[in-house]
Amino acid sequence: RQPDPPAPDRPDTLAGLSHALDACTRCPLHASATRAVPGEGPADAPLMIVGEQPGDREDLEGRPFTGPAGRLFDRIAGAAGLDRSTAYVTNAVKHFKFQARGKRRIHQRPDAGEVQACRWWLEHERALLRPKLIVAMGATAAAALTGTGRDITARRGTLEQTADGTPVLLTVHPSYLLRCPEDQHPTEEARFRADLETARAQLA
Ligand code: URA
Repeated sequence: RQPDPPAPDRPDTLAGLSHALDACTRCPLHASATRAVPGEGPADAPLMIVGEQPGDREDLEGRPFTGPAGRLFDRIAGAAGLDRSTAYVTNAVKHFKFQARGKRRIHQRPDAGEVQACRWWLEHERALLRPKLIVAMGATAAAALTGTGRDITARRGTLEQTADGTPVLLTVHPSYLLRCPEDQHPTEEARFRADLETARAQLA
């Protein structure tokens, strides 16, 4: 892991941070990914939504949550009364981690070292945005924001905090819904929607 750059290299706007992210080599993932995928959304958004890492589509397009998990998220968030365009959407890890299998790139979960290296960016996004609430989707986001990604299914729907006291609502990652057996999908979708409704109520 590289040492933190000196203070003057730390951008003081989210747009500057996105630009600086292009040159990130803090962990090995930059070498195989197409590009770093920065967060997006209004600089004064009260809600920050944090996923795991860009997927195949996001890696190619350079925007977070534009693939299947993102489309599912947008639909359920809309049903829960959360408009994604008013939130700042980002990932705990900014480069896509995958294993090449023929032409396909198979998602791999980032390891603790990669999450830790990328926290530098997440913490700066947080410091610049100062959201009222963060929604952490999945174990990787939970780990990056609260220090542990354990037992996410038991913790989901509850509020925890970052080390400096920002409320974090925990929930599952939307790809969990894409993977679950079809007969469980309606129940899982309702639970995910309920978690997002809890987030909306916190913002009111
Ligand atoms: N999954 C994530 O966690 N983030 C994305 O941007 C896309 C898929």
